[in-house]
Amino acid sequence: MRPPLIAGNWKMHTTPSEALAWFGRFVPALAETPHAGVEVLVHVPATHVAALAARVQGGDLRVGGQDLSAHDQGAYTGEVSGAMLRDAGATHVIVGHSERRALHHEDDATVAAKAAAARRHGLVPIVCVGETESERDDGQAEAVVLRQLRAGLAELAPTDPHELAIAYEPVWAIGTGRTATAGDAQAMAAAIRAELRDLLPTLADGVRILYGGSMKPANAAELLAQDDVDGGLIGGASLNEHDLLAIVRAAAETHAAVPAADDRRPGPNGAKEDPT
Ligand code: 13P
Repeated sequence: MRPPLIAGNWKMHTTPSEALAWFGRFVPALAETPHAGVEVLVHVPATHVAALAARVQGGDLRVGGQDLSAHDQGAYTGEVSGAMLRDAGATHVIVGHSERRALHHEDDATVAAKAAAARRHGLVPIVCVGETESERDDGQAEAVVLRQLRAGLAELAPTDPHELAIAYEPVWAIGTGRTATAGDAQAMAAAIRAELRDLLPTLADGVRILYGGSMKPANAAELLAQDDVDGGLIGGASLNEHDLLAIVRAAAETHAAVPAADDRRPGPNGAKEDPT
């Protein structure tokens, strides 16, 4: 059974001291919230990682980066390497977020190089894929997403399914308040899983596929209940500790509701079948 992964992405919000105060409220509240089996992670600005990782040491909340350099070190002014993030205490890092693809012109090859750099330094890359609104309107959504997926994983050779995660983030749903329907999110997650079975046959059923794009307490339970949606990458709502906790709670409830033998095998169309 895939343990749900609930990951906040704070983007360029909060100062380090605001973030420390937020963690000061969130950490005890999380401890009081039943979340057995749910991994919780917050991707913070690079300047915050060391202090926040020290704050959560020994607990089950983890801290991730939002981007890293494809290079290990050198004359790359302003860049942050995987080694720096890892040494500061990050465990995960987002790569290929659509904002970086669009605003910083990151192409598929750069995303692949960044995912590989993350692994070299012991970080789990969360590889983001997602189509724009016009690509969806043109009927290209799945082709675009699967191309990004294949390209993004091209330099990885994982031996464990938890060495990476995929985030499906339709660009038109990010920060817009528009959410993919649960059915659309499931359909794309299932297509991603099918492609993973091709790319990583022995690991595909264990790789977490997250949904991102205006996930909030009001829609989280339905999205997280989908067979192939194993968590969320949450932007705006993750800045509000009550909203993030509500989403963690929804993940825990969904996880608990799945039959213990979630050795349910994927059926021919990818849907899980209850053991009979
Ligand atoms: P929102 O949840 O604000 O739509 O952002 C999603 C996102 O980009 C997470 O990486």
